[in-house]
Amino acid sequence: MTTAASGHGPLYLDACATTPPAAAVLEAMASAAATAWANPSSLHGFGLAAAELLERSRLGIASSLGCDPEALVFTSGGTESIHTALLGAAAPLPSGRLLISAVEHPATLAAAAALERRGWQVAVLPVDRLGRIDLTALESLLEPPTRLVSVIWGQSEVGTVQPIEAIGRRCRQAGVALHVDAVQVVGHRGVAFNRLPIDLLSCAAHKLQGPRGVGALLVRPDLPFVPLIGGGGQEGGRRGGTEAVALVAGFARALELCDARLAAHGGTDPVAALRDGLLRRLLDLPGLRLSGPDPLGGPAASDDRLPHHISLLISDTAGAPLSGRRLVPMLWRQGVAASSGSACSSGGGPAPSPVLQAMGLTQAEAASGLRLSLGPWLQAADLESVPEALMRSRAALAQADGRASSR
Ligand SMILES: Cc1ncc(COP(=O)(O)O)c(C=O)c1O
Repeated sequence: MTTAASGHGPLYLDACATTPPAAAVLEAMASAAATAWANPSSLHGFGLAAAELLERSRLGIASSLGCDPEALVFTSGGTESIHTALLGAAAPLPSGRLLISAVEHPATLAAAAALERRGWQVAVLPVDRLGRIDLTALESLLEPPTRLVSVIWGQSEVGTVQPIEAIGRRCRQAGVALHVDAVQVVGHRGVAFNRLPIDLLSCAAHKLQGPRGVGALLVRPDLPFVPLIGGGGQEGGRRGGTEAVALVAGFARALELCDARLAAHGGTDPVAALRDGLLRRLLDLPGLRLSGPDPLGGPAASDDRLPHHISLLISDTAGAPLSGRRLVPMLWRQGVAASSGSACSSGGGPAPSPVLQAMGLTQAEAASGLRLSLGPWLQAADLESVPEALMRSRAALAQADGRASSR
């Protein structure tokens, strides 16, 4: 099955769930699996070859993310990185308060719940109608017993990009450690960890055309930290388990491709132009509304939204919200792979999106979300058919429900 395009198979518009691995990534992984298959801790030549590739990949990833190689801990992906960050940074501290936002990914909610079971309090920072964290609420809660803050940099469901430097500066002033969930950001904008007021950062290779099963946690080297997974002392003693060298090599290659793309476009992700073209056409259609920040209001506005992200609220022609979850299979029949929200919440049950509800939408509106997320495998021509496919699937859904269905 191809990932694009009109006339050539289904169109993959679900980059925020995961991305198709780039051909160069598959090549790098195949070569690593064939030549660097040994245990990198082994002291013979086979092991040294694996260790050499692991460390070369670490240097490349560290240089791309602007951190020291020692700051980098390889994990199995975003969920593990987030758990390791929050539980690992909390462990050396006396129980206190963790601040998270109302629009976190379920992985952060799960890690926060684990801390609650260990005697921590969790306070939730409200967001506005665009999903932006209330900085005044943050300031007022940055006092004891708050000891840790975790914020999603780029929101997977509604695309909101938080002002991470402003948040980090406030945390630094208060002497409170900050973890940033950058799973949707890395690869789409330059990240210079050492220059940001951030203590821990999580990311995952599979969101940037790398392989599934590998991610990274960046930990500021002087931050007190207790590993979540012990074992043979790998990753500087911060994550036990034999390293997945071929996956790490694929991750490094994927980041190189992202860096080259960003560098060729003045530091911005060229997919934003494709996204803007599609978004303009979609917003001309009746019954479709954007959720989250509008990127079409100029360069400053476009910084407030992930460059590859469109999120819509879908209603029938009479204006009544339709089910995003039910629209997704209809859209697939029209040859478009999309999502009704974050990958995990769309698989997890029929509850309306807590993220959209936190942004002040009604339950019915919060069940009407549709996400189209793009990537470099797409060309503008591939997207030509999307508005028509969406109108057809919406009409099919409205008809199935006996609702207003004229197109
Ligand atoms: C913002 C965000 N954080 C965390 C995760 C979890 O990452 P993973 O699926 O690699 O465990 C995701 C995945 O959808 C995400 O979008």
